[in-house]
Amino acid sequence: MRISRVKDCRIVDLPIVQTESGSITSLNNSIDIPFNIKRVYYLYDVPNQADRGAHAHKELQQLIVAVSGSFTITLFDGFENMTFILNQPNQGLLLVPGIWRELNGFSGGGICLVLASHEYQESDYIRDYHDYLEFKK
Ligand code: TYD
Repeated sequence: MRISRVKDCRIVDLPIVQTESGSITSLNNSIDIPFNIKRVYYLYDVPNQADRGAHAHKELQQLIVAVSGSFTITLFDGFENMTFILNQPNQGLLLVPGIWRELNGFSGGGICLVLASHEYQESDYIRDYHDYLEFKK
């Protein structure tokens, strides 16, 4: 997605069922999320100094949730950047395709849950920053 912009990405409030004995957030395909979920993965045991991401996707849509702890995610679209701190299990960041993202500042026990619109496909990645800038021209 050459024309997608950071401003097309947004924080969404996820449903929460709160009881005295704890909370449940349930994400239903195509109801709570504007795409069909084809893959779920999560990052964990991430050292505080680690940098993750540093790539864009050509087609993949994602919902990113800090289901435990916190981390920082910075988005860039070739023009603008925006930084989000994710630290609420009932909030997610919806990412449109074509956005460069970098994740860092993971807290101890930080878990980054990702719901994705496609199966893993290396050909969907743009991993070189200069290739990304070319792609966005
Ligand atoms: P990558 O997406 O680059 O991780 P991050 O953006 O969190 O730094 O993936 C790291 C490695 O894991 C890479 O070799 C591809 C592999 N991988 C899979 O095999 N399946 C997956 O669903 C994902 C997300 C990654």
